[in-house]
Amino acid sequence: MPRTFRIAASILSADFARLGEEVTRVVEAGADLVHFDVMDNHYVPNLTIGPMVCEAIRPLTKAAIDVHLMIKPVDRIIPDFAKAGADIISFHPEASEHVDRTIGLIRENGCKAGLVLNPATSITHLDFVLSQLDLVLLMSVNPGFGGQRFIPYTLDKLRAVRQRIDEAGRDVWLEVDGGVKVDNIGEIARAGADTFVAGSAIFGAADYAGTIAAMRAALAQVPA
Ligand code: DX5
Ligand code: ZN
Repeated sequence: MPRTFRIAASILSADFARLGEEVTRVVEAGADLVHFDVMDNHYVPNLTIGPMVCEAIRPLTKAAIDVHLMIKPVDRIIPDFAKAGADIISFHPEASEHVDRTIGLIRENGCKAGLVLNPATSITHLDFVLSQLDLVLLMSVNPGFGGQRFIPYTLDKLRAVRQRIDEAGRDVWLEVDGGVKVDNIGEIARAGADTFVAGSAIFGAADYAGTIAAMRAALAQVPA
């Protein structure tokens, strides 16, 4: 099955004083998903945005909102994000006492469920739950901040998870988050990713559409 490539713009690097305008602009510029980073100053050393902001941007776009929860605990707030219009909700296994229950909660609330693995977190976390997941998100930086450098060993991890997904024979998205740029997106796709989070690479550029188009041009060189 040929892979579909998707670009998820992380609004963590947007201008928060003009967030609505930024969301509209980045989707018009060609982003497929709006990546929404939720941080709690507990699970990660930074504090960002919650369900009220998700609800505020929901009417501005038809693009899927891809919520990345970097919070502990996670379960209490999941229904709030579903009501606020999230399409995908992903969480870290270290932040949930009961991973299977959290996945079930996300799906019962009508959202797609994703599990996020930090750079040093083993892919064995997928052993029993891959069949319940819609998405696996591999962190290619330590979570908490935009603008960090891509950790190269993530490429080996991507290859290993790609193989597991292919063997499972289900359409599970394989997303990568952190340090994705125009000049490395092709290599990351070759390692098996199909969904690419980019924050500073897009919002740090003057021309969002030009940057997203350059990413798509690099992806077009990748064998299906
Ligand atoms: C980091 C966040 C990322 C971040 C990526 O914890 O999960 O989504 O916005 O930013 P860049 O693309 O700048 O590495
Ligand atoms: Zn993220």
